[in-house]
Amino acid sequence: EINQVKDKYFRPLQDLRVSIMDKCNFRCSYCMPKEVFGDDYVFMREEELLSFDEIERLVLQFTKLGVKKIRLTGGEPLLRKNVPDLIQRLSQIEGIEDIALTTNGVHLVKQAEALKQAGLMRVNVSLDALSTDIFQEMNGRKVTSAVVLKGIDAAHAAGLEVKINMVVKKGLNESEVVKLARYCKERDITLRFIEFMDVGQTNGWDFSQVVTKKELLEKVSTIAPLEEVDRELGEVATRYRYKGTNTEVGIISSVSDTFCGDCTRARISADGKLFTCLFAEEGYDLGEFVQSGASDAEIESKITEIWTGRTDKYSEERTEETVKNRKKIEMSYIGG
Ligand code: GTP
Ligand code: 5AD
Ligand code: SF4
Ligand code: SF4
Repeated sequence: EINQVKDKYFRPLQDLRVSIMDKCNFRCSYCMPKEVFGDDYVFMREEELLSFDEIERLVLQFTKLGVKKIRLTGGEPLLRKNVPDLIQRLSQIEGIEDIALTTNGVHLVKQAEALKQAGLMRVNVSLDALSTDIFQEMNGRKVTSAVVLKGIDAAHAAGLEVKINMVVKKGLNESEVVKLARYCKERDITLRFIEFMDVGQTNGWDFSQVVTKKELLEKVSTIAPLEEVDRELGEVATRYRYKGTNTEVGIISSVSDTFCGDCTRARISADGKLFTCLFAEEGYDLGEFVQSGASDAEIESKITEIWTGRTDKYSEERTEETVKNRKKIEMSYIGG
């Protein structure tokens, strides 16, 4: 029996994004800049991470309150050991309709098959450029796009649904927008462009580095005319299809055209803190609550209390001032 909770603006809780690993094998400048996440950066200790038992138990309580979609994120979630085991457990929870994972794709060649077998339905793979130079500049780790493209092929071969995410940063990978759009159109892969966001406090964001939805649409329309497709409740992307085809492209415009109005997402960091916004300043330590012996009913009522009090709509409130002065949590910590 589901007790759908809604927040102060009547937004239902429907999606849960669970970060299972704060580390990453990339150093994307917009997420974990090398200068900040260097050799001496202190990541979570293994014993700080929520265990699979704890994650499973938490997810179960969330489903009682309306959560239907689970996404595993990071950092890089595939750096965690035995991810298929976790997916298998989560896919058996009643009420879960969708299990997806967001990854940089490097480990898909090895893991796609096992992930699919365990019950994973979809992967969203980040890929910011096809060109080697530009991609390496973006990922900070000399990885080539060929590696990621192989991972995508492996995911397709395993029967996973695949979308590609491309963060666009002015002056860096704008020239790759049309190239990657063509590549995806030819292969009928959904590509989503993401406006560079001011997540965390280390990525040096400012408005001038954002390539807006409008600019992106102009570029992509040069390939073929687009028409808008209906968006589902709580979906972050505006969706378009190339006229006369079923191939879609999406734009995630958290800066120029915000979507807080129907934001249905909660997030749990790898060490168990609950956040009700990507741009939150602090989270509630659900992990500690669980470890201190809270009962299922107590966990459920704690989540209810937090969600019913929620008033987050950061993207709508974004100003020069909030960009600078808000102590936002890092994205690799909170989980995209
Ligand atoms: P689908 O279920 O496939 O639509 O996935 P998704 O787009 O919700 O998840 P994904 O991890 O692929 O995220 C794509 C981009 O959207 C990333 O840059 C996320 O940071 C961003 N994003 C996801 N949720 C939110 C959100 O609630 N607010 C904002 N501002 N950005 C979000
Ligand atoms: N702005 C926009 N998107 C970002 N991502 C990471 N950092 C940022 C940022 N500052 C994207 C990643 C991945 C997704 C989970 O979030 O590229 O596709
Ligand atoms: Fe890693 Fe993804 Fe962040 Fe890049 S965006 S550093 S791949 S977590
Ligand atoms: Fe949701 Fe916060 Fe993103 Fe708005 S900024 S869509 S409230 S996570």
